[in-house]
Amino acid sequence: MGKESITKEAVAKEAITKELEKRCIPELLRLSDNTPVDSPQLWEARRKEIHEILQRECYGYLPETGWETEWETVAEEENAFGGKAYKRTIEVRIRSGRGYVSFPFQLSVPRNTEKPSVFLYITFSPLSSPEMVEEITDNGFAVARVCYQDIAPDQNDGYDNGPGSLFPGNAYDGWGKLGVWAWSLSRIMDYLVQEKTLNTDAIAVIGHSRLGKTALLCGAMDERFSLVIASESGAGGAALFRGKEGEKVADLCRNFPYWFCGNLKKWAGKEEELPFDQHFAAALVAPRCLYTAGASEDEWADPLSEFLACRAVTPVYELLGKQGLVADRLPRTGDIFHEGSVGFHLRPGTHYLGRDDWKLFMEYRKKHGV
Ligand code: GCU
Repeated sequence: MGKESITKEAVAKEAITKELEKRCIPELLRLSDNTPVDSPQLWEARRKEIHEILQRECYGYLPETGWETEWETVAEEENAFGGKAYKRTIEVRIRSGRGYVSFPFQLSVPRNTEKPSVFLYITFSPLSSPEMVEEITDNGFAVARVCYQDIAPDQNDGYDNGPGSLFPGNAYDGWGKLGVWAWSLSRIMDYLVQEKTLNTDAIAVIGHSRLGKTALLCGAMDERFSLVIASESGAGGAALFRGKEGEKVADLCRNFPYWFCGNLKKWAGKEEELPFDQHFAAALVAPRCLYTAGASEDEWADPLSEFLACRAVTPVYELLGKQGLVADRLPRTGDIFHEGSVGFHLRPGTHYLGRDDWKLFMEYRKKHGV
């Protein structure tokens, strides 16, 4: 390699560092008492702090105890997709001292693969819509799909409906809908990890947009997922708030206050003062795999801010013995960074989760065995 190209490469890498420095985000590798975090043991302590800050200031506290869950298969299709897969619709029933709620999910399992890895996919569309399931199962993955509105309506209805009603919170740090959807995914995970026909070591959680935020929160809180895929999750998802284009904290709090906890409102217009930034959520996924997908024309989500969060968590991965994001330059349209435990791609086009994204997610999973 010539001297000139070595220099070009160095400049391109340096551009990432410079762009990230401009954001002035809070440090990940320092405890609140200022102790530098330089070992996996100290990271565990820092992890607990981050876990606490994110719940208190952004998403609200998710319940940790006090419920019972049961699952019942309510429908079965032995020969789905012309016999290539079987499908089961399973009802999740959750009970706490305050009552009982339920929602369905659908598990599609390919017959061509022994112990398939799984995508736990939270979707906008109802279970009756076929979505991408046939293509995913043809690729040898099982899919557990749940429609988010079946868990709890996407409305400002307080704690009236869905799992929120089992654990109503307060107006400050009570859980918002993202927390409710994320926590409910973990109740599906409780079922999946017991399912011996599946590869329970390789269960990914995936969602797009508000459901990308949900998938990130779920995978940040629940360490049983081997991979977390946040597609175009933007503000309140994988994008840094500081220096972000498009949607800001104030937009979220005006349009979707009920997705978050009440405390987030304190930070509207004050991103620079936030005691966290979204790389905190991404860091909780380490050392497991994290994949952030962006689209070049999705200014509202701001893929550069998503990319920079991936870069910001890389030192945590390195501390834990993994490569984080392996990228040699700021992302250009069409770039795919699949080398490290943090994956990223920048698809051309607008806000959407489609077959081009799925193809890359599946490639990444096959490459890393997660
Ligand atoms: C709105 C919202 C975003 C969200 C998106 C979606 O655009 O502002 O934060 O990601 O809806 O979920 O479709």
